[in-house]
Amino acid sequence: DGVTVVDHPLVQHKLTQMRRRETPTPEFRRLARELSLLLAYEVTRDIPLDYMDIETPIAPMRAPVVAGRKLCLVSILRAGNGILDGMLDLIPHARVGHVGLYRDPKTLRPVEYYFKVPDALDERLTIVCDPMLATGHTAAAAVQKLKERGADNVKFLCLLAAPEGAKVLREAHPDVPIFTAAIDEKLNEKGYIVPGLGDAGDRIYG
Ligand code: PRP
Repeated sequence: DGVTVVDHPLVQHKLTQMRRRETPTPEFRRLARELSLLLAYEVTRDIPLDYMDIETPIAPMRAPVVAGRKLCLVSILRAGNGILDGMLDLIPHARVGHVGLYRDPKTLRPVEYYFKVPDALDERLTIVCDPMLATGHTAAAAVQKLKERGADNVKFLCLLAAPEGAKVLREAHPDVPIFTAAIDEKLNEKGYIVPGLGDAGDRIYG
């Protein structure tokens, strides 16, 4: 149904450590980075390859290499940067965009304050990163803006989703597959994921 839950044991273990209230900021940040490395593996499974001529110590060959310039990673600020760092460790040639959206605590609606993305998005796979998919409105708004700039091949990567948020994003953008480490039980009245892991932005950046 367009939602991939990455159920690898290492992913599940690291997510559990992130959820624990006693996990301190440096540890939380490190886990976010490691978890994004593992999720990156899954979300990039079908990215394009180029071929180049290389020589091994034994013989020349034509060998596959990732077409990094055809990838655009988009971080939804602030917390998306915690995922972006891990993704860039794996795919250092990727282009990077930043979308600043914060959620109004009263209306729970996203408010835009920054938008800067590379050009020619129509020639790239765009991977949008944000640890939390709660009501889904932030993600849906970010994808909408990216589509207006030409993005037509978009994937959404998060650590944790609420069923409500996954539904909102899938309905708004049926062409955008979602990758997550878990789908939790529900949202509470403040729009927090239950049981969740708290406020990811605050836990990464204080
Ligand atoms: C959090 C989270 C998402 C958004 C999810 O960001 O990182 O961007 O809320 O909520 P939604 O699915 O209900 O729209 P927040 O607004 O706390 O900003 P921050 O990352 O700057 O702390």
